[in-house]
Amino acid sequence: MDQRFLDDLFARVDIVSLVSKYVHLTKKGGNHFGLCPFHNEKTPSFSVNGEKQIFHCFGCGVGGGAVQFLMKMENLEFRDAVAQLAESVGMEVPVDGNPGESRRRDRLYDLMREAARHFHANLKRPEAAAAVEYIRRRALQPQTVTRFGLGYSMDSWDDLSRAMKAKGYTEEELLFAGLTVRGKNNSAYDRFRGRLMFPIIDVRGRVIAFGGRVLDDSLPKYLNSPDTPIFNKTQNLFGLNYAKKSKHGKLILAEGYMDVISLHQAGFDCAVASLGTSLTAEQARIISRYTDRCVISYDADEAGQKAAQRAIQIFGGAGVTVQVLRISGAKDPDEFIKKNGPEAFDELLSRSEGQTEYRLRVIRQKYDLSQDDQRVAFLREASAMLAGIPNAVERDVFAGRAAEAAGVSREAVLIEVEKRRRADQKKERAERHRADVSPVNRAQPRERELRYRDAASAMAEEGVLSLLLQRPEHIEEAKKLLSPEDFSAPPLAEIYRRVLEGQTETSQLSVSLAPEVFSLCTKLLMRELPVDELRALRDCAGRIRTERLKTGAEGTEEDPLLAFRKIKANK
Ligand code: UTP
Ligand code: MN
Repeated sequence: MDQRFLDDLFARVDIVSLVSKYVHLTKKGGNHFGLCPFHNEKTPSFSVNGEKQIFHCFGCGVGGGAVQFLMKMENLEFRDAVAQLAESVGMEVPVDGNPGESRRRDRLYDLMREAARHFHANLKRPEAAAAVEYIRRRALQPQTVTRFGLGYSMDSWDDLSRAMKAKGYTEEELLFAGLTVRGKNNSAYDRFRGRLMFPIIDVRGRVIAFGGRVLDDSLPKYLNSPDTPIFNKTQNLFGLNYAKKSKHGKLILAEGYMDVISLHQAGFDCAVASLGTSLTAEQARIISRYTDRCVISYDADEAGQKAAQRAIQIFGGAGVTVQVLRISGAKDPDEFIKKNGPEAFDELLSRSEGQTEYRLRVIRQKYDLSQDDQRVAFLREASAMLAGIPNAVERDVFAGRAAEAAGVSREAVLIEVEKRRRADQKKERAERHRADVSPVNRAQPRERELRYRDAASAMAEEGVLSLLLQRPEHIEEAKKLLSPEDFSAPPLAEIYRRVLEGQTETSQLSVSLAPEVFSLCTKLLMRELPVDELRALRDCAGRIRTERLKTGAEGTEEDPLLAFRKIKANK
């Protein structure tokens, strides 16, 4: 994207007010602090700096500028985040960009839509009789089949590929879209064969992936599209394209595609499901954009109930109030509705428990409260759970419930709960402290690919960069002391290269560096400066060169990839 436009944009956007829309910030010194929206925490380690226009979380290590924040928060692509920011400050995005890349993506979207059409049309073919019969057996009405765009993938190695190639799509595009798989002899064949097809549609109504179910008991029951440039299974929800328009005022989270479809058919058009994985924090955040109330309606089996517990925790981090629906006499919402009808499900919904109530009941069921030692154990576990509730009134109410169940006074339970809270907070502080002070932890970026091989050198390299990014006037001095080749960590060497080119503005770096590398930059920018800057610079440079000599002498300073290539070449 045009750097001049971006500079203009960054000059007008204010990261503090942007972040404030999502996070409650408190000013402390030059920074604003709040609870990190990207991981679960009770004490704020998420900081925003208005002067540098960056954010950084000392807890989970994520960082960036306004665009990166919006990308993560709203699950957007770079250009979409830029467009949204531009709109918010009344600017027009210039229309050149990278036409190649966006054309490629547009073609992917088109291909997925064509594939969905093809699968749907297949239902009319005589070879799809078994699928049609299966749909009938599952009591899916024709309107439902149309509404969800259900279809059938022929029991063939190339039915879809042939049809899509006839429409002008290439073998590469089919592979790229995850619609075909490359076999052993390098030839590609259709991924989905002989399956009932569920298109996965994003909130903007575009087909981005498929789930495919077998028509019998064979395994795997479902096959899902792999992640592609337009699909990330952790960041989408099945059914959300319709549920977002629902008038129910809440969302129902189910486990399976079939549950969602069955719920919609029964009039609960607010049902969604995660995609072949358990609920992710990203999905909870997406849900929180549409509602602050979610009813978890998972399968009645133990796995479903365990998953519900996990989902409660994840929702807690996203600020969504959760209720848990308990189904009895059926294995999942789909079966329940088939058996008892929509009214009975509505009844269940209105009776569904609050999350704390639910968790307390689960704990209670584990103990025999007529036994003294079991009562103590129950109270211990209940107090630990209650200690995690941020709201004091709620803690109080449920401490009363737990006390009642165990036949002790509410005060006794509350004392225990407060003790736990203090212990938890202390532990959290200690953990953070450890993460902050342990040299290796501090030096290691969270991104696995960026891990430093030589932590001692990398720490000094970080010191140099932290200084130069904040005090560009020392760049000339640094040039005399170090060249980028002296750096042991490739991402840090890259930052150093940019700095030597004169890029010290976050607005430039946020565009020129890969997001993970820029995230590292924000950590360095948030660091406090040493008292004697020049001396610190020389010290760090000295340490880097010593490390270089040491590793050089031992001969370990080799790119592992290079070494690998050599081994291969020798063979
Ligand atoms: P279920 O087995 O409960 O499926 O798995 P379901 O949707 O209720 O289907 P029916 O009613 O048995 O026909 C729940 C979800 O887990 C994922 C799918 O997203 C499914 O909808 N899953 C399950 C897979 O991705 N792969 C599998 O092999 C099984
Ligand atoms: Mn199920």
